[in-house]
Amino acid sequence: MTYRSIAMDGPSGAGKSTLARALAARLGFLYVDTGAIYRTVGLYTARQGGDCGRKEDVVSRLPELRLSLAYGEDGLQHMFLQGEDVTEAIRDNAVSRYASQVSAYPEVRAFLLEMQRELARTHNVIMDGRDIGTVVLPQADLKVFLTASVEERARRRWAELAARGQEVDLDTVREEIARRDYDDTHRAAAPLRKAADAVEVDTSHLNFQESLDALLALVKERLSL
Ligand code: DC
Repeated sequence: MTYRSIAMDGPSGAGKSTLARALAARLGFLYVDTGAIYRTVGLYTARQGGDCGRKEDVVSRLPELRLSLAYGEDGLQHMFLQGEDVTEAIRDNAVSRYASQVSAYPEVRAFLLEMQRELARTHNVIMDGRDIGTVVLPQADLKVFLTASVEERARRRWAELAARGQEVDLDTVREEIARRDYDDTHRAAAPLRKAADAVEVDTSHLNFQESLDALLALVKERLSL
């Protein structure tokens, strides 16, 4: 049996994870959040007393790392690190920075590549990340590059933090997003870029339902579903 795959790439805050998860539920595909895997590598390094900003601290620990993914009955992806469920722990704000640091090392990317490809060989997947259409699944049936303006992504992120009771300045959030965009697109290893055959979907002026409808229309057209 051949499996279908949808690659969903784009910058932080464009709505990739929410939309990819909803789309996966609608299609009965497995939703794979690859950012969570990088987060887990960062968490492990930090827990072991390593500095994620030092490549050697991260790479020397890869051989002992036991990473796995499991899907709950709710269909949600759980990340396991050395047998422990770290699904919640990897959402910590500090871990976002660790993930960004470890994701810049080619050795880390190479180490995680096969794990991601194996999931696509054995399931229908929607994989969300930065290099899925360009590196991980270059043969994906559909590649989406999801974007939104920096202003709009900053506004969404700010609202999300406010809803969690975290008061931050909108200008600060905008600067952080712009800096992350720069880092993600300028790193040497698998930088964030739109694959030549990806369809760009700009959600700046679309609400959730409109964005989902746009994606469903693309899926219908490309995968004949
Ligand atoms: O999507 P996220 O914020 O959970 O991703 C965490 C970090 O991992 C982010 O800095 C980008 C990086 N990442 C990556 O380099 N390649 C991927 N396929 C997914 C995430």
